[in-house]
Amino acid sequence: MKNLSRKPNISLPDSLKQKLVQRKDEGALRSIQKPNASWIDFSSNDYLGFSRNTSIAELATEKRKAYPNELHGATGSRLLTGNYEMIEDFESYLCHYYKTEASTVFNSGYDANLGLISSVAQRQDLILYDELSHASIRDGITLSKAKAYKFEHNHLEDLEKKLAKFKDQFETIYVVTEHVFSMDGDSADVDRIVELCERFGAYLILDEAHSIGTISKRGASEFSESIFARVITFGKSFGSHGAAVLGTQDLKQYLINFAKSFIYTTAPSVENTSRNWAAHEYLKQNPEDFEQLNFNINFFLDQIQSQNLSSYFIKSQSAIQSCVIGGNKKVKSISHQLQQDGFDVRAILSPTVPKGKERLRFCLHSYTTKEEIKKVLNHLTNYLIKK
Ligand SMILES: Cc1ncc(COP(=O)(O)O)c(C=O)c1O
Repeated sequence: MKNLSRKPNISLPDSLKQKLVQRKDEGALRSIQKPNASWIDFSSNDYLGFSRNTSIAELATEKRKAYPNELHGATGSRLLTGNYEMIEDFESYLCHYYKTEASTVFNSGYDANLGLISSVAQRQDLILYDELSHASIRDGITLSKAKAYKFEHNHLEDLEKKLAKFKDQFETIYVVTEHVFSMDGDSADVDRIVELCERFGAYLILDEAHSIGTISKRGASEFSESIFARVITFGKSFGSHGAAVLGTQDLKQYLINFAKSFIYTTAPSVENTSRNWAAHEYLKQNPEDFEQLNFNINFFLDQIQSQNLSSYFIKSQSAIQSCVIGGNKKVKSISHQLQQDGFDVRAILSPTVPKGKERLRFCLHSYTTKEEIKKVLNHLTNYLIKK
């Protein structure tokens, strides 16, 4: 018989406590760290320094002033009271910027992937997704009713094999991948994936969270006409918060009707929208930060070669440079040591990445100096090689 305890159930159930214990035993217990402003940033997604850019802040204030009647809070979902003139104008701006027919703003990239993928993929459909896809893509897939198979990371022969195998078995096939991968920093061959999707009549969904502002100022805009949906985010290179899905007007109408993470949530604030708009205008007119970031990426690559670290790093031409070490405890220990030396380098642990592929993820920025790059790699060499 069930024990009818009178105590209120506010302590964590034993089964959940057990999961935390297991995480701890695996050296994978996550915690939120206090920020340390003195550390040199090799960890944030603020690739172009836009979150600290005062010109963008001023531009955003100007934009805000141009819409004096807008409220501070959106006051509701876009479908109810949360729609406002500035957000519509911003969406039109995004269409010009990214050469697309329509854009739909979401509160975050997570929300955009979740709402897009879960709503478009139906029970009778198939989703083929890169095995290293971000959690937001995977959660979107889980929420959809479609069948889903992963293909080997960036392995287009494997994707082609699966497209050929399933093309007659499913009404619609969606291919989901990332332009620049968040954990490995390498890029998808968009040209070839577009060609494959066209050949097999599949619908491509491309997550561009880490490619815009890093490998390109407008991401995969040259392929706009061939990509079913692109997800762009404002929390990385644009130094702010939010996201948009780019595609046709029909897709926009569909999302407004069926994407739950668009419908059942308060719209982004006018301050947030003005900031995102200002950041885009700034990037368009000021190439310096983008050029400096790319200089720093090349300098970092030269340094890992000259400091004999190449074998540890995944080859990438992006702002994400991953040093694969293996083992949660070891990676955590080196990241702590680097932090004590004044460098903010974070450990990426399993289960976020597969066991054995635990790593330090170096995020590169426009505002890092050559000296800082040299130094952090010097310190890393000490911990990796000379120990
Ligand atoms: C590839 C990818 N997609 C989507 C997201 C989610 O974006 P946001 O941070 O705006 O929710 C992230 C963020 O880490 C990401 O790396």
